[in-house]
Amino acid sequence: MTERRPSSLFILTGAGISAESGVETFRDKGGLWSKVRLEDVATPEAFVRDLARVQAFYNARRAGLSAVSPNAAHEALARLEHEFAGTLTLVTQNIDDLHERAGARRVLHMHGELAKAFCNGCAERRDATRDLAVDDACPACGKTGTMRPDVVWFGEIPYHMDLILERLASADLFVSIGTSGAVYPAAGFVSEARQRGIRTLELNLEPSDGSWQFDEARHGPASRLVPAFVDAILRP
Ligand code: NAD
Ligand code: APR
Repeated sequence: MTERRPSSLFILTGAGISAESGVETFRDKGGLWSKVRLEDVATPEAFVRDLARVQAFYNARRAGLSAVSPNAAHEALARLEHEFAGTLTLVTQNIDDLHERAGARRVLHMHGELAKAFCNGCAERRDATRDLAVDDACPACGKTGTMRPDVVWFGEIPYHMDLILERLASADLFVSIGTSGAVYPAAGFVSEARQRGIRTLELNLEPSDGSWQFDEARHGPASRLVPAFVDAILRP
């Protein structure tokens, strides 16, 4: 595909864009779901059944973020967002803050953010810059054992979906970066784009579950593919 400059861009990222920063993915060889059952840590039932285990899982992932930095792919997308201003929508399934730390300003976290927490009792939200403890009391309602990571679990509804679908519908290029295309609704965005005649491009380490649906799929590390894509788009 020639990189003709699109008038509006919709970009979806997944765990693969953070892999080279040292953040574990989910379904790659040795990924998170090969080490822990998602039913034990990433469902509302798990939170009720074993609060300590769920808090420990996300506390460890939050602590890990302090040891990693954005990579060239995050930085390239931040540059692109700055150039495209309001005509670029950046949606991530990731709960890390690497897009923001690379300089992106308007990131839609459809699966929530590790750096935030909310009370299962009264929905009070707060930053979660430190470990969540099982006996943490909610600062609003005072209940203990109800503060949870502000992360969307299996069986829950992802955030910002109305805005996401509205922006996707008005894009003229959909780019999917570093996602296996295994989890809906994100996995369905490419089909939504195709039905609307929107050009689709996949940048992923290897073919994903949805590669066959893209007009073009480029395979390789995001830290190489994404800067090359952004340079081609921004080339005068
Ligand atoms: P879903 O149908 O969207 O996802 C199911 C997918 O999860 C399957 O296609 C499979 O790829 C994967 N999966 C299921 N069991 C698995 C296992 N044992 N090991 C590895 N992968 C497994 O699930 P849902 O219940 O409809 O989830 C709704 C939404 O919750 C998702 O679309 C997503 O937005 C969100 N979510 C967030 C997280 C998180 O940690 N942030 C985890 C899971 C789901
Ligand atoms: N560069 C580009 N792509 C990469 C790289 C890399 N360096 N490393 C891995 N990948 C690709 C893998 O080939 C894989 O297709 O990133 C994808 C990661 O897929 P998953 O581990 O399934 O992560 P993701 O698609 O983000 O998972 C979706 O599932 O568990 C839920 O909510 C969780 O947000 C997550 C969702």
